[in-house]
Amino acid sequence: MINNIGIIGAGTMGCGIAQVAAQNKHKVVVVDEDEIQLEKAKAGLDKILSRLCEKERITIEDKEAILHRIIFTTDLNQLSNSDLIIEAIIEKLAIKHEVLKDVEPLVNDSCIIASNTSSLSIASIGSVLQNANRVIGIHFFNPAPLMPLVEIIPAVQTDEKTLNAANDLIKNWGKTVVKCKDTPGFIVNRVARPFYGEALRIYEEGIADFATIDWALTELGGFKMGPFTLMDYIGNDVNYMVTESVFKAFYYDPRFKPSFTQKRHAEAGFLGRKSGRGYFNYINPEKNTAANKDKTLGLYILNRVRCMLINEAIDAVFMNVASPVDIDLAMTKGVNYPKGLLQWADELGLDEILNQLQHLFEYYGEDRYRPNPLLRKMAADKATFF
Ligand code: NAI
Repeated sequence: MINNIGIIGAGTMGCGIAQVAAQNKHKVVVVDEDEIQLEKAKAGLDKILSRLCEKERITIEDKEAILHRIIFTTDLNQLSNSDLIIEAIIEKLAIKHEVLKDVEPLVNDSCIIASNTSSLSIASIGSVLQNANRVIGIHFFNPAPLMPLVEIIPAVQTDEKTLNAANDLIKNWGKTVVKCKDTPGFIVNRVARPFYGEALRIYEEGIADFATIDWALTELGGFKMGPFTLMDYIGNDVNYMVTESVFKAFYYDPRFKPSFTQKRHAEAGFLGRKSGRGYFNYINPEKNTAANKDKTLGLYILNRVRCMLINEAIDAVFMNVASPVDIDLAMTKGVNYPKGLLQWADELGLDEILNQLQHLFEYYGEDRYRPNPLLRKMAADKATFF
C-alpha cells in the first residue's frame, strides 16, 4: 500500500508531481538541496491552488488540506517513511546516483524508487541501488497536474511487484498510463522526433518556409500547433538537446539526425518565445512572413511528415517498445496529436503509407526514409493495427 510519497527535486516537475500526489490525499515530502527553490516551490503551489479556488475547482478547505499534506525540506532523512520516492532532480546521471545512494539506506525495503528522467535509462539510474528490483521510471509530462499521460518504464532490474504497484497508483491518480520499454525517448520523445526533424528537413531543402509548414500541419493535418511554433514554445536549445541525446542513444541512427538549422537557431540565441525570437519573431510579429496556402504543396508537406511519424510509431511496435494501443494513447494524451498515428495509418491505408515512404526512399536513397519491415509485411498482408 502506497501512502507516503517522497519527491526529490522541487523544480518544475517535482512541484507538479507533489501537487498531484497531495491532491490524491497522499502525505508528501518534497526535498531539495536549495532552500530558495523550496520557498519558490511552496509559494508557486500556493498560487496555483488559489487560482483553482477562484475557478471553484477546489474549496479553500481543499487548498488548506493539500498544503497541509506537503512538507518542503532540505533534509533527506524526512524521506524515511516513504512508500514511494520519485526523483525529479537535474538530468545528470552522476548527481542522480549520489542522491539515490544516500536515500536508499534511509527507506524501508519495500519502498519503490522511481525516476522522472526524460532521457537517461532507468537501468543506469537503478544500477547504484543495493536492491535494484525496486527501481522504475515514472515519466510525467509538463505541467504534471494538467497533462494526462504518464509513461511507466520498467528497467531490466525491475520486479513485477514494483511495476504493478506503480501502475495501479498512477492509474488511481486519474492519469492515462502507458507501459514502455527502457529505450531512448521512451514512447513520446522517440515517436515524435520526425514532427520536428522532417519539418526542419523540408525547410532546409527550400521546399517551404516555417509559416507554410506550420500551416500545412495545423490546417490540413489537424495538429494543434505547427512544428516551428511548437519548437519555439519548447525552446530550440531544449528541443535540440533532446534530439541530440536521442540520436546518440540510438548509436547515431540517421533517422534521428539533428538539424543544423535548429542548432544555428539555438547558437544564435533564437530560442523561441522565451527569448522573443525563434523561428518566428515574437517582439516584432509583423516581420513574420505569411504562409503560402497552396494546397498541393500543403498536402505534400503533411504527407511527408505524417508518413515519417507513422513509420516511427510502427517501428516502436516492431521493436516491442509498447503496444499499439499505448503508442496511440501516448501521442494523443502526451502531445495532443489529433489522432493516434497507428489508427491514422489504418484509416489512410498501410499500402498508401508504404507507397509514400517508398517514394521518399527511392528519391533520396537515405536510410532515414526506409519503410519499417512491419509496415511492409502488414501492407502485403492487408492487415490493420486495430
Ligand atoms: P528543474 O531544474 O526545474 O528542477 C530540478 C531541481 O532539482 C532544482 O530545484 C534543483 O535545486 C534540484 N536539485 C538538483 N540537484 C539536487 C540534489 N543533489 N539534491 C536535491 N535537489 C537537487 O528540473 P525539471 O525540469 O523539474 O526536471 C527534473 C527531472 O524531470 C529531470 O530528470 C528531467 O529530465 C525530467 N523531466 C522534465 C520535464 C520538463 O518538461 N521540464 C518533463 C519530464 C521529465
